[in-house]
Amino acid sequence: MENNLDQIHQNGLAEIEATENSNDIQDLAVRYLGRKGILTQYLRNISKLPAEQRPAAGKKANEIKTILDKAFKRAAEKFASAGSAKDDGIDVSLPGRAAPAGYLHPITQINNQMCDIFSSLGFDIAEGPEVESDYYNFEALNFPKDHPARDMQDTFFVSEDVVLRTHTSPLQIRIMEKHPPPVRIVCPGKVYRCDSDLTHTPMFHQVEGLLVDENISFGDLKGVLTTFVHQMFDEQTSLRFRPSFFPFTEPSAEVDILCVMCRGKGCRVCSHTGWIEILGSGMVHPALYENVGYDADRYTGFAFGMGVERIAMLKYGIDDIRKFFDNDMRFLEQF
Ligand code: FA5
Ligand code: MG
Repeated sequence: MENNLDQIHQNGLAEIEATENSNDIQDLAVRYLGRKGILTQYLRNISKLPAEQRPAAGKKANEIKTILDKAFKRAAEKFASAGSAKDDGIDVSLPGRAAPAGYLHPITQINNQMCDIFSSLGFDIAEGPEVESDYYNFEALNFPKDHPARDMQDTFFVSEDVVLRTHTSPLQIRIMEKHPPPVRIVCPGKVYRCDSDLTHTPMFHQVEGLLVDENISFGDLKGVLTTFVHQMFDEQTSLRFRPSFFPFTEPSAEVDILCVMCRGKGCRVCSHTGWIEILGSGMVHPALYENVGYDADRYTGFAFGMGVERIAMLKYGIDDIRKFFDNDMRFLEQF
């Protein structure tokens, strides 16, 4: 009987070692320690031993019972923490399901890249309200009431004197009102116009730039914008300054980039001109200095307003600006 007990001990441990899941462990525990289990039977039979053998056999049997009991518990814990393979129908060898991670919209990515380039050139970043007063959106920017230049931008009106800003240029006034010169700032943000086609959406993004100091010339404007385009695209990217008009700059220029769709041959995206307009710019009009209390004889400066979507279209070769806002994940996930 003594030998028998050693065998139960060894077999028990070996069988526990060989189990593969928590069901097997449960069955095995019943087979050894259950009401009719091997060790339970043994303990019952101790009463049939000669009296002098009973205490030692009982003590040993109980020790082995404790050892096996602990071994069963350890094995059960091991399977529970490993998420046992077959017992609850989970195949642990399958690759996990990734939680869909969020990421930045392509327009946000381009907007951030643009701001990074200007930061590296020493510009600070500022933001302003999207619902804007007529004063900041037009009047202070030298658009008198009823002036035909207001028709250049199809405005969404909130009330007679409040509009959804049509451009980020109101920030020029807000910044200069608050800060004495010199100022060197870029202002990213959403703007709104009643406009929709291949290259226009009713909501789009601009990055406004403003630099005012002593002795700033149109050459500085050209230098900064050329550096920007070369960093945003590459050194080979052609750009052209085309004379234009804005009430708040004089002289004014729009900047076009060679159309990436047709490489300048002419296509429907560039309206068969070979070029796509990305920004408006110019030297700050002296009337603005008057409106904000700057000394127009001492300071000069330049400003520009860029279309973020246009730059994204050129950078990624997208032929329809509206794709950015269709919420088609197959499109958006490519960036
Ligand atoms: C302006 O908005 C001026 N405020 C820019 C400016 C700033 C001039 C500072 C001088 C000094 P414009 O209306 O041309 O200008 O728009 C600027 C850019 O915004 C355009 O070159 C174009 O890239 C983009 N843009 C204009 N309308 C839309 C639209 N509906 N959808 C997408 N992008 C547009
Ligand atoms: Mg324009």
